[in-house]
Amino acid sequence: MGSLNVGPLLSFEALADGALVEAEVQLGDDAESLIVYRHGDAVRAWLNVCPHAGRRLDWAPGQFLKSRDGLLVCAAHGASFELEGGQCVAGPCRGDMLRSVAVEVRDGQVWLADPPV
Ligand code: FES
Repeated sequence: MGSLNVGPLLSFEALADGALVEAEVQLGDDAESLIVYRHGDAVRAWLNVCPHAGRRLDWAPGQFLKSRDGLLVCAAHGASFELEGGQCVAGPCRGDMLRSVAVEVRDGQVWLADPPV
């Protein structure tokens, strides 16, 4: 039996604008790693699973590569993703999407939205 993720993922206030961080969550029966991105007052999240070969995108836990033009770059083979919708715009899985996870900001914290995916 899986348990629900009942607490906040992280503090919104502690996220710098433009920050990309990792959060671990329980989704159903599975523990999942998320990419969490703050853009102004908005927060977006995706599963930390690259659509190319299913690898994590960070080169070390929570260490994501961001290009000078603001793309998230997968550390495995360099697929580059825009951070509005999570679409791959360059690299081996061009046109594919990161899987988004709905999150919301409440009481200064980032939470999984309900339903989370
Ligand atoms: S697994 Fe991400 S580019 Fe290959």
